[in-house]
Amino acid sequence: MSKINIAIDGPSASGKSTIAKQLCKKLDYKHLDTGAMYRCVALKVVKTGIDYNDEAALKELLKGIKIDFSSDGKVFLDGEDVSSAIRTDEISMMASNVSTKLTVRKHLVKMQQKIAKNKGYIMDGRDIGTVVLPDAEVKIFMTASAETRAKRRYLENQERGIKSNLRALTQEIIERDYQDSHRKHSPLKKAEDAIEIDTSEMTIVQVVDEIMQIVEEKL
Ligand code: DC
Repeated sequence: MSKINIAIDGPSASGKSTIAKQLCKKLDYKHLDTGAMYRCVALKVVKTGIDYNDEAALKELLKGIKIDFSSDGKVFLDGEDVSSAIRTDEISMMASNVSTKLTVRKHLVKMQQKIAKNKGYIMDGRDIGTVVLPDAEVKIFMTASAETRAKRRYLENQERGIKSNLRALTQEIIERDYQDSHRKHSPLKKAEDAIEIDTSEMTIVQVVDEIMQIVEEKL
């Protein structure tokens, strides 16, 4: 059966990656977590100590950047496994900051489009259905209330042994949502032809089933 591309967009911590991974297993598709790519740029900005508002320094930093994913979902920045290092609160906020920069967006969007050329990808992010893959055969826009998303992230952190504060997490999610949906370039917004799913009251299995139905109809 010929493969298609699936775009999943939505605000931070809406469960996009979790759902995308499960769908990939069912469909034997590949997952591309585009947020992880912005997180890698953010980590490199922090490590090198450049000012993310310095366009020339950003361009230089992007020139040599190498971002890779292993088949089991690990993220590598310039050959180093950064899967955990890119998930801190500091890097989450810096990822949102660097993602406002057109230089960064152009560079990463090009990489993402090249990867998805051969189809069979489930890509999650903020601008996949609108900018990266406007021709994606299935577009999903996943939402959930900020409180629900913060609670989910809190429990996820607990499972990973990461200490966090629910109130601070809620605040960070609200701040990132605002910046991600109000920035000048490719702000987070639902593509006109995307199907919106509010997952606040849904289990992971229910969301996966609903999207599988949509995909099967398309296939
Ligand atoms: O999905 P995430 O929380 O890992 O993404 C981190 C940040 O990267 C997010 O706050 C906004 C940015 N981002 C983006 O601008 N476009 C994407 N396609 C993915 C993420």
